[in-house]
Amino acid sequence: MVTLTKTEASSLSIREIGKSFPAPDDPLTSRPVLDGISFSLAAGELVSLIGPSGCGKSTLLRLIAGLDSADSGELLIGSDPITHPGAERGLVFQDPNLFPWLTVRRNIEAGLVARGVLRKKHEEVDEFMRLVGLEVFANAYPHHLSGGMAQRAALARALINHPKVLLLDEPLGALDAFTRMRMQDEVLRLWQARRTTMLLVTHDIDEAIYMSDRIMIMTSRPGKIERTISIALDRPRQRSSEDFLRLRADILNFLHLAGKA
Ligand SMILES: Nc1ncnc2c1ncn2[C@@H]1O[C@H](COP(=O)(O)OP(=O)(O)OP(=O)(O)O)[C@@H](O)[C@H]1O
Ligand SMILES: [Mg+2]
Repeated sequence: MVTLTKTEASSLSIREIGKSFPAPDDPLTSRPVLDGISFSLAAGELVSLIGPSGCGKSTLLRLIAGLDSADSGELLIGSDPITHPGAERGLVFQDPNLFPWLTVRRNIEAGLVARGVLRKKHEEVDEFMRLVGLEVFANAYPHHLSGGMAQRAALARALINHPKVLLLDEPLGALDAFTRMRMQDEVLRLWQARRTTMLLVTHDIDEAIYMSDRIMIMTSRPGKIERTISIALDRPRQRSSEDFLRLRADILNFLHLAGKA
């Protein structure tokens, strides 16, 4: 039996990260994408990252996931340097990326199978399917699922590895507006149940305000953290409260001014 309220989060520290890629029009020239990015997430914090397309948000998540390495700077999970991918860092993308030939249960088990721990952790599979409300669909295939259900399966697949940090790259971006709002509540419920540290990339300012403890705003490439805003609103949050709308106007205004500059 999994203890769903167990705290298993870890802090995350990013210090002076720099990353360049070859320029598309001149591959011999390197073009900076991230320039001196520094921030920290406390264990159990939910922080959103917003910024213009191409500013390096996904690149940053890939570096934290250990799928690529930085040119300079330091990335730490707790006090351990990040050097390669690890099960303690989960990554969920906009596309749920489920294996179409596997049932929901087998998809959720996939990480356990890859790590050779399925036998030991077998009973957790049912717990996690219940956690995301998919137990009835255990034997269904991905093409039987709605977009929101498929994304819930992808979240369960990431959470079953007990990540200490969950990296979410526009995880709700492909959903319609109503499903998206319901899924925001789902993700918040999972976060409250597991208290995993979460870093959420989103283009949706309302989503960032509704969900986060803090919002970090990045500038266009080379990406830097331009501003960090703490969201001190009580949860559950009211999307149309005065404080919510004031924050929304403030961020929109800032992005507009940042765009002009
Ligand atoms: N492997 C790569 N090789 C070369 N250039 C890359 C590579 N990965 C990313 N880039 C470039 O780095 C920049 C940042 O890309 P990234 O995907 O991180 O942006 P993003 O902020 O996630 O954008 P979006 O909001 O559109 O998802 C882009 O200009 C992109 O072309
Ligand atoms: Mg991206």
